Amino acid sequence: PPTPEFIAGLPKAELHLHLEGTLEPELKLQLAARNGIELDQKSVEEVRATYEFDSLASFLAVYYPAMNVLQTERDFYDLAHAYLQRAAAEGVRHAEMFFDPQAHTSRGVPFEAVVTGYHRATVDARDSLGISSALILCFLRDHSAESAAETLEASVPFRDLIVGVGLDSDERDNPPSKFAESFARARELGYRLTMHCDIDQVGSIENIRQVLEDIGVDRIDHGTNVVEDPRLVDAVRERGLGLTCCPVSNSFVTDDMKATEIVDLLRQGVKVTVNSDDPAYFGAYVAGNYEALAAKAGLSRDDVVQLARNSFEASWLDDADKARYL
Ligand code: ADE
Ligand code: ZN
Repeated sequence: PPTPEFIAGLPKAELHLHLEGTLEPELKLQLAARNGIELDQKSVEEVRATYEFDSLASFLAVYYPAMNVLQTERDFYDLAHAYLQRAAAEGVRHAEMFFDPQAHTSRGVPFEAVVTGYHRATVDARDSLGISSALILCFLRDHSAESAAETLEASVPFRDLIVGVGLDSDERDNPPSKFAESFARARELGYRLTMHCDIDQVGSIENIRQVLEDIGVDRIDHGTNVVEDPRLVDAVRERGLGLTCCPVSNSFVTDDMKATEIVDLLRQGVKVTVNSDDPAYFGAYVAGNYEALAAKAGLSRDDVVQLARNSFEASWLDDADKARYL
């Protein structure tokens, strides 16, 4: 079986990581102090005690309020820098990182502070840590389609700093079709496209059908429920689409890592990948996710090597950069 040392030593790409989900209790307290924000919690233990949930909705109810401490360009820089440092130490060579501009602009934080702080961290990390990284702007699907359209237009001056557009937050009653127009516009702007199709959603197979047939995404986040429909599995495999799975996150939101489904898809030749989602909240960074899945599913070294290869193949690196890892 693959040891933690083997997993950490394996070059990996992380493709499903919410920067706001890397806010560790220590940094939350530091940023609150720096920004003069009064928190109800006074210690790391008290903050950690609030990082508790058993569903996507109960997670999101903790996640958005915690972001209030993020105010300035420097705060966003510090958040992304801390993640990239930690990821590099676990063998991540490339990261494609989600961020939620509406969670900040809706509090009065300028779009520019968010994107330039995060971007500056990617530039510094490439120079000082040797890790490449890119930003994916996510629309919050429980906000309106108009708000998504406005957010997309706000991104245009920063087009070169953003690789793609995604869709996250609460999936219930917020299907991909709600955002069809903004995703079409995002494609015109040259963005890559991805969307969350979460695993705990009733009817998510219809959402997976929509992202494949109606929206035309370049990747699917989670998406494990595709196993329910062999025709859609064939479509995913034939198009070479990556699925960005997050085993530890799954075990929080559904009590099930979905190891059986992830391995089933791996054996069927689908480009499944392993990722951490919101590591500060779910308690495992990417290496911990590989370890948890390997232990649960009895994976071999060859299996984890394949998962790591998939992570580069499913990435949005250009072919020359991919070739360095494959
Ligand atoms: N935003 C951050 N993490 C998320 C998740 N796991 N699902 C949906 N939206 C999210
Ligand atoms: Zn996610």
